[in-house]
Amino acid sequence: MFEQAVADFCWHAREVVSSGMGLWGWPWGRRGPSGFGSASTAEEVTAGVDASNITAIVTGATNGIGKETARVLALRGAKVIIPARTLESGLKLKESLADEVPSSKVHVMEMDLSCLSSVRDFARSFNSSHKHLNLLINNAGIMACPYQLSKDGIELQFATNHVGHFLLTSLLLDKMKSTAAETGVQGRIINVSSVAHKRSDGTCFELNKLNDKARYKPFIAYAHSKLANILHTNELSRRFQEEGCNLTANSLHPGVIITNIIRYVAGNSNDVASSDLSKKI
Ligand SMILES: NC(=O)c1ccc[n+]([C@@H]2O[C@H](COP(=O)([O-])OP(=O)(O)OC[C@H]3O[C@@H](n4cnc5c(N)ncnc54)[C@H](OP(=O)(O)O)[C@@H]3O)[C@@H](O)[C@H]2O)c1
Repeated sequence: MFEQAVADFCWHAREVVSSGMGLWGWPWGRRGPSGFGSASTAEEVTAGVDASNITAIVTGATNGIGKETARVLALRGAKVIIPARTLESGLKLKESLADEVPSSKVHVMEMDLSCLSSVRDFARSFNSSHKHLNLLINNAGIMACPYQLSKDGIELQFATNHVGHFLLTSLLLDKMKSTAAETGVQGRIINVSSVAHKRSDGTCFELNKLNDKARYKPFIAYAHSKLANILHTNELSRRFQEEGCNLTANSLHPGVIITNIIRYVAGNSNDVASSDLSKKI
């Protein structure tokens, strides 16, 4: 297991360093064509943006990348809906955001992405209580956990990272389309994937193999789920263009950031990373 983790880490590091970030650009934060680099913060990237006409849902906002994303969206004036696994963790985040951004418009609701009925309950409740949805950031995720099945009997990483977000997106699409048509503001779906998707060979997409405990490799299962995020994005994008609706679907690799996502690799620590991401994203 340890050797596998080291091999996976080395693969990941090599892939990131040799990816579009440039061989030396990533570690030193060199700026790319956009004017931003790995050392740029979300606040820098959004400086001067007025998002007060935007309603956004950010999944996985109780920790890590999603937490910083929600914070900066709130800072720029967006109404941010946070579907949290527990109301307690969501309300804790809401309180800390209110301290920092007193004008923040944050709504906390409950949702467990690994449970289909919970996703359906969230979508039903959101659709009946909010008029608009401009931005859906499908960010929540788990990585390389030991083999487990979700309540619905689906391998847990695939259930959480892909199936839950797939269902959530499907249930919110009508709201996003009507919002874009009514407001004229282009809607966006962001699927937070990973460069790790390259490790998937696609074999576990055969549904009868997905749950096969004997074949289970934690990082490869993560890679399958992240490839599924991209395939989902690509198909959404194709359909949006075909329909001519004012929505875009986008896949995102966020870079490499030390967050709680490494908890299963780093020995199940409950709080691997409570660091200040505003200085690192
Ligand atoms: N960090 C990196 O270097 C990196 C690299 C590539 C891609 N990514 C991707 O970036 C995304 C965010 O990762 P991160 O690094 O910010 O991880 P993180 O700090 O562990 O945060 C993950 C978030 O997802 C939530 N979550 C997990 N399972 C959930 C479930 N069943 N239902 C609802 N929410 C759930 C967690 O909620 P709790 O607070 O309740 O645990 C937490 O808010 C992931 O999709 C990951 O694959 C990260």
